[in-house]
Amino acid sequence: MRLADRMFRIGTESAFEVLDKARALERAGRHVILLEIGEPDFPTPRHIVDAGARALDEGWTKYGPTGGLPELREAIARYVARTRTVAVGPDNVCVVPGGKPIMFFIMLALLEPGDEVIHPDPSFPIYESVIRFLGATPVSVPLLESRGFSFDLGTLRDRLSNRTKLVILNSPANPTGGVISRDDLGQIAETLRDRDVMVLSDEIYSRIWYDVEPSSIASVEGMLEKTIILDGFSKTYAMTGWRLGYGVMPQWLARAVNLLTVNSNSCTASFTQRAGLAAIEGPQDQVGEMVAEFRRRRDAIVSGLNQVPGFRCASPQGAFYVFPNVSGSGMSCESLADLLLGEAGVACLGGTAFGAHGQGYLRFSYANSLENIREAVERIHRLSKHWAG
Ligand SMILES: Cc1ncc(COP(=O)(O)O)c(C=O)c1O
Repeated sequence: MRLADRMFRIGTESAFEVLDKARALERAGRHVILLEIGEPDFPTPRHIVDAGARALDEGWTKYGPTGGLPELREAIARYVARTRTVAVGPDNVCVVPGGKPIMFFIMLALLEPGDEVIHPDPSFPIYESVIRFLGATPVSVPLLESRGFSFDLGTLRDRLSNRTKLVILNSPANPTGGVISRDDLGQIAETLRDRDVMVLSDEIYSRIWYDVEPSSIASVEGMLEKTIILDGFSKTYAMTGWRLGYGVMPQWLARAVNLLTVNSNSCTASFTQRAGLAAIEGPQDQVGEMVAEFRRRRDAIVSGLNQVPGFRCASPQGAFYVFPNVSGSGMSCESLADLLLGEAGVACLGGTAFGAHGQGYLRFSYANSLENIREAVERIHRLSKHWAG
């Protein structure tokens, strides 16, 4: 028996493979510092856990409405309307198990073989995986270190064609930590406004930013009807394992996403949604504390990596990743990542795990303690005699 052809086009996330390698080293007695995984190391805030546990006790253990519990959809609509200054209501909201299903369902609902999808390079590998899986064509637009890892807008314009159906934006971004400026968003909107294209705006890191609050393209005049906002609870509230995310989109598309939900997972776990309601409506101080801690770690890892011969590390404006340029080491990013894991016990990802334009970069997640980050940087520094001079 042979798998369907489409299964030979689907990709994966190599963060999970590196995690397996790191765990194998740990079993062999090595001490490994894990800086490759994309999840906050903080616990889910207590009041959210309590709300989830209470929901279980109260019997929120049955099927719920396909698109999400009405009270959660209303709370999300209010939150998104306030934070993005857009006019949206509960009928624009689809609640799903994590941010990823929005990516998958939106592309499943929109793409035909031969359609083109513009996506950033480097970017979250699942975008390209799903585009190829559906027989559509990924068209990458390089992110430029010199522009704070934003697009060159001229290149974006050049890559648009009459087959472009979807443009994917991600700000703050994985893997670079880059934030698309309000000015760039305005220009991107200008370019797309009169075209028959949709924009998938992945804003899963919307609350993790440092100096300038990121904007959403949905807020730009004329773009709301063309935009799907992807957001969720995984990163903001350290709820990766609860599986809770959402999309905010025009109603015609929300109906399609709900049909895909009926046909796949029926609905999202009800008690998880009750916890989500407590997250979005409850106190937000722990989000602020988490971001303040991320900022300390960002500053430590950026200044540490900038001392390593052959490394140059920009200070990212959002998310919890740094993406140092390591081309000065003279090694490919894949070999360097292997060397760091094997010789220094520091797990990170080569930039090419996120696209061809990631060559010459590494991605470190700083969702780890300040102590471990300092130790990791020291180990890398000690190892640098392998490539320096
Ligand atoms: C850019 C981006 N989008 C979406 C997701 C998926 O988030 P979730 O765990 O809520 O599915 C991630 C997770 O790493 C991500 O980095």
